[in-house]
Amino acid sequence: MRRLGILLSGRGSNFLAIHRAIADGRIPDAEIAVVISNKTEAKGLEAARSLGLPALAIPQEGKGPAARETHDTKMIAALTDYGVELVCLAGYMRIISPAFVEAFPNRILNIHPSLLPAFPGLDAQQQAFEYGVKVAGCTVHFVDEAVDHGVIVLQKTVPVLDEDTVETLSAKILEQEHIAYPEAIARVLSETHGVVGRRYLPA
Ligand code: GAR
Repeated sequence: MRRLGILLSGRGSNFLAIHRAIADGRIPDAEIAVVISNKTEAKGLEAARSLGLPALAIPQEGKGPAARETHDTKMIAALTDYGVELVCLAGYMRIISPAFVEAFPNRILNIHPSLLPAFPGLDAQQQAFEYGVKVAGCTVHFVDEAVDHGVIVLQKTVPVLDEDTVETLSAKILEQEHIAYPEAIARVLSETHGVVGRRYLPA
């Protein structure tokens, strides 16, 4: 069994989509080894517990680079303890340190609700909406040292219609996220593709 570690900060709908995809065989031979949050009160942690999955809160104590490093050291230790092979950031709203990236080379994925490199950072759907784009979407990518940056595994698009609001657009993007993330994880685990420069191509 390939062991996934899920990191989240909020409601956890992407985590639940991954969980469903494992249950119905869209991500073969995999299991969620642990769900970890930097937020004690994250809804996603509650959901994990009610599914009987190991769920840990590792809150950051204090601010600044030293506190960040201490926090990431704890995160790395927990993921290692649970034998995690692939780390999936699913609404994990923290910047991770270079040490964290180095601990899991090409083994950390993130999902972002925009067509990167457009609209990194917070409120990506609102940024896209306000910019007036006609096509929006989501991106699953490997995580490197920069925020919402790294080799793209796959993207899904949605049209932005004249009658859309930020809310309807966000809902359409989220629906695609729930399809994209399991597909990307299955692709990465199957090792049918590899990183060539900045591209993720069939091996
Ligand atoms: C998702 O839309 C995800 O793409 C976004 O946070 C939301 C989490 O929702 N992530 C980012 O913006 C990362 N930069 P969820 O907790 O229901 O999965």
